Amino acid sequence: MTEQQKERLIEDLNQVVCQAAFAARHHVGTGEKEAGDQAAVDAMRMAFESAQMDAIVKVGEGEKDEAPMLYVGEALGTGSGLRLDIAVDPVEGTALMASGKPNAIAVVAATDRDGFWDAGSAYYMKKIVVGSKAKGVVDINASTQRNLEAIAHASGKKIENLVIYVLDKPRHKELIAEIEECGATVDLHAEGDVIGSILALMPDHPVDALMGIGGAPEAVISAAAVLALDGDMQGQLAPQQDSERTNLLTEGAILDQVLKLEDLVKSNWAIFAAAGVTSGALLNAPQKVEGRWQADSVLLGPQAGAIVQRAKNLLSD
Ligand code: FBP
Repeated sequence: MTEQQKERLIEDLNQVVCQAAFAARHHVGTGEKEAGDQAAVDAMRMAFESAQMDAIVKVGEGEKDEAPMLYVGEALGTGSGLRLDIAVDPVEGTALMASGKPNAIAVVAATDRDGFWDAGSAYYMKKIVVGSKAKGVVDINASTQRNLEAIAHASGKKIENLVIYVLDKPRHKELIAEIEECGATVDLHAEGDVIGSILALMPDHPVDALMGIGGAPEAVISAAAVLALDGDMQGQLAPQQDSERTNLLTEGAILDQVLKLEDLVKSNWAIFAAAGVTSGALLNAPQKVEGRWQADSVLLGPQAGAIVQRAKNLLSD
C-alpha cells in the first residue's frame, strides 16, 4: 500500500463511520433500535459509494436475503483501488443508542482481500483480549485464575489491581465470580464488547482485558483493532443455542478450535475506525459546535501501536 493509498483509505473509512454516527443521532434515546440501525446502515452504505476501493463485505448485516444493504458478499467502493475485506457494524450497541446510554459507536474495519475470518453461521464467540504488554501470555483454554496471573505478571501489576471488562449477561455468572475470587475488579457493561476490546488495548485506560462471550462478528472487528494496536486476542466458537451449534457443525466448523489473532485477521495490517453515536469512554456523540456539526472519531492502524488519527470531523447538516 502506498502512502497515498493509505491516506485515502483512512479518510474514506473515517467518512464512513462519521456519516453513520451522524445519521443515528436522531434515534438516540428514542427507543428506536431498528430505525437507528437502519439510518446508520443507509448512511454508511452511501459513504462507501465514493470510497476508492475494490472491496467486499466480509462481516456485515447478515446474508443478502435478510439484509438489503451491507450484506455479506456485497461489493463496496468505486471498484478500483485496493482489494479489501470490510467488516462493518453501523451501530455497535444498538440498545445503548436506543436508550441513550454511553458507548454506542459506529465501526468499520478493513484489511487485505480474504484477510478477515469468515464468521459463517457463528453468532457467539468466547474471547479474551489484552493489550501489548500481555501479548502471548493468555490461553483461552486456561483457567481464569491462570490468565489473570499471566496478565498481572506481564503488566507488572498485582491481580487486585487488574480491571476486566465483562458483558453483564447471565452466561457470565461463573466468570464474574472467578474474577472476583482472584481479587480483580469486574467492569460490567450491559452491551458493547468492541469498545471493551479497544479499552483493553489502550495503555492509558484502566481496563486490562476483555473476557467472556460476545458476538462472533464483533470479534473480527475487534481483531482489526488488536492487530493495529499490537495487542493479543484469542477466540473460540461458543454457540448459545442448538440451532447455531447445528449450523456450525454442518459448515464443518471445529467448535473447540482456538482462533488466534492471525486466524481472525490473516494479514499483517488492518485499519479500524470508530465514531461516537453516544458519548462514552472513548468517543463523544456528534455535537453542534458554533453552528456546525462535529463527529468524534478514532482510526487505528495500519502500523502496530499507531493511533493514526483522532479527529473532530465537520459534517453538513
Ligand atoms: P448490537 O449492537 O448488535 O445489539 O450488539 C451489542 C452487543 O453487546 C455486542 O457488543 C456483543 O458482542 C453482543 O451484543 C452480545 O450479544 P447478546 O446481547 O445477545 O449477548
